[in-house]
Amino acid sequence: MEAPAPVTSATSGAAPLIAVDRVTKRYPGVIALNDVSLNILPGELHAICGENGAGKSTLMKILAGVIPDYEGEIRLRGAALRFGDTRAAEAAGVAIIHQELNLVEELSAAANIFLGRELTTAWGLLDERGMNARARELLLSLECDVAPQARAGSLRVGDQQLIEIAKALSFDTDILIMDEPTSALTETEVARLFRVIARLRARGVTILYISHKMDEVFQLADRVTVLRDGKWVSTLERTATNAREITHLMVGREIEATQFTEPRRPGEVVLEVNRLSLAWPGHAKAWRLRDVSFQLRRGEVLGFAGLMGAGRTELLECLFGASQVPPQGRIVLSGHEVNFFQPVEAMKAGVAMVTEDRKRLGLFAQFDVGQNVSICTLDRVASGGMISAAAEERMARASVARLGVKTAGLSAAITSLSGGNQQKTIIARWLLTEPKVLLLDDPTRGIDVGAKAELYRVIDGLCREGLGVIVTSSELPELLTLCDRILVLCEGRLTGEFTRDEATEQKIMEAATQREVGGRKSEVGSGSHSGGN
Ligand SMILES: Nc1ncnc2c1ncn2[C@@H]1O[C@H](COP(=O)(O)OP(=O)(O)OP(=O)(O)O)[C@@H](O)[C@H]1O
Ligand SMILES: [Mg+2]
Repeated sequence: MEAPAPVTSATSGAAPLIAVDRVTKRYPGVIALNDVSLNILPGELHAICGENGAGKSTLMKILAGVIPDYEGEIRLRGAALRFGDTRAAEAAGVAIIHQELNLVEELSAAANIFLGRELTTAWGLLDERGMNARARELLLSLECDVAPQARAGSLRVGDQQLIEIAKALSFDTDILIMDEPTSALTETEVARLFRVIARLRARGVTILYISHKMDEVFQLADRVTVLRDGKWVSTLERTATNAREITHLMVGREIEATQFTEPRRPGEVVLEVNRLSLAWPGHAKAWRLRDVSFQLRRGEVLGFAGLMGAGRTELLECLFGASQVPPQGRIVLSGHEVNFFQPVEAMKAGVAMVTEDRKRLGLFAQFDVGQNVSICTLDRVASGGMISAAAEERMARASVARLGVKTAGLSAAITSLSGGNQQKTIIARWLLTEPKVLLLDDPTRGIDVGAKAELYRVIDGLCREGLGVIVTSSELPELLTLCDRILVLCEGRLTGEFTRDEATEQKIMEAATQREVGGRKSEVGSGSHSGGN
């Protein structure tokens, strides 16, 4: 079949590998994709950018057979086609690594990789040995040393993501779609992933790459397409554009760099942690956290930096009553020693936590957006044991508006929201609980530039009202923007403390690795920043 003249602006002489022709996807109340046309050239790495809810994942899901019903046409190598499911797409050589991790937690890493395509022996039995060996090989090719037998649910997000990638690589894939693949990875892991991408490209694999991180886009992409509100805005050669232009095309306005010129004035100590230790049962290192002591004041933003595995998440979990084993040491909240055995106790005492893994710990998939926002604050709107629907809705609506959650309405299914908007919903929920101490574990993962700046402003505002905030981030510039003080963890111990004025990426990295970094960039999470923050 003749491919008609491409509708997009940027094209080179090559015939497109994929032609997206006037594709529209409607959901009740939302047009997720609106008449989008776009060409993907063979062997290119094509980045897709856009704000939260712009339609990026929807377009990728259509290309990968996840969404079979849409208007318009997709042509692969000139032939019109419509994948009925992901199996059909895989058979045609298209694989997708999803933004929200999609693993079956009860199954092993290997079982997840081969789910639905299990290897069998000559006897027709499950070939566990063969699958474990192949899984091991794939994981090693990603430089990942997770045991194939490890239960997926027991792994941290970063490792789970590598398993998803191994899964996609296990097909004979020649078109690979990556939806924010680095959102949970440290810089070392990102560097490792980029090496894998380079190898795939050397083999001629075409890659579609969604990211909110401009430095990644500009390091990897041949061309960049920007979507806004479901519409195609532009497709540009990477060499003919820059991060500022892309950001501008994404949001349709300039994003101001966040700067808090008015100094914050922290008040009295709200949280005191004394020699906190967390045992690590069955692990050679014995301690996840060891003798961690610090104070948090009202109106202060305290950051925790460290490499992946340094114990940042574990520390926040201890403070929230969510650690796997009870911690040792003393935690004093507003002058009272506390021992939380469950998050609900921490919540009642005024501690809130936004977790790094929204799917596992944060969202209630069966509830709608409004319920997800108000679920922790129902007692505030309840009078005489009855929940006032009107009050619940009013509260949820205000909170959703404050963070600019893009949703068809409060009664929309939470699963219908884009990844970044799900994250904003969880933050909206915790802000409603009016906590004394707010724990944020990598809160801007997957959030677009505009929403990030907005969240920084919200956090700053809450601090000025007297809230104490502890935040971790995989992006050091974020901590440097937000925090009054930054503490550094290395292998479960505090190895550095810097005030806002003292802190530099260099000093923090040295403390996080406990060695001289000598001007090099290391993996603490430097740099991965989109324009404007
Ligand atoms: N299953 C669904 N039901 C209803 N609406 C949906 C569904 N899936 C997506 N949408 C809506 O379509 C729009 C585009 O969503 P999509 O997930 O493609 O955004 P995105 O660009 O990937 O955003 P993000 O950066 O946050 O991941 C959003 O408004 C979203 O709420
Ligand atoms: Mg998405």
